[in-house]
Amino acid sequence: MTAGGPPPGVGEAGGTGGAVPVWRRDFPYRADREDEVTRREFVRFLMLGSGAFAVGTVAVAALTSARGEPDGGEVAVVDEADLRPGEPFLFRYPTADDPAILLRTPAGELAAYSQKCTHLGCVVYLSEAGDELVCPCHEGGFSAATGEVLFGPPERPLPRITLEVRGGTVWATGVEHG
Ligand code: FES
Repeated sequence: MTAGGPPPGVGEAGGTGGAVPVWRRDFPYRADREDEVTRREFVRFLMLGSGAFAVGTVAVAALTSARGEPDGGEVAVVDEADLRPGEPFLFRYPTADDPAILLRTPAGELAAYSQKCTHLGCVVYLSEAGDELVCPCHEGGFSAATGEVLFGPPERPLPRITLEVRGGTVWATGVEHG
């Protein structure tokens, strides 16, 4: 190499005399066919891809909505005599994966709710005063009497489990989504 010339490997390839840049030697990409995909075709491809994605999303949403929420049917939950004053009774409904809570409202009525917070699904618990179902994750709160949102980020009430008392046994009979 002569003084003042380019460092080895820059701007030349193999000393053949042709000024082939090193990047072209290392990445021998040929751009002479790039006209085969025009900008318009590329945009059309993007539109078709987006459209297919949107149709797929709508189809999945429709399928999910058609399938609906699981219906737990009628399930015996607990003997009313076994409920302790001021203490909630925890059970699973409508499926074995769904935590639920049975309580007496401050007015003395039996009420049951899904224990999954409607914000992001954390498990709610009964406040010490027995009037609120509190979510520890983001400080959400629901009324123990109605399941309505009292405070925090949840926007929907807790799903309410309908109850019937037959012969001293509390039965869950369905779920109402507010
Ligand atoms: S998950 Fe309950 S408030 Fe966020």
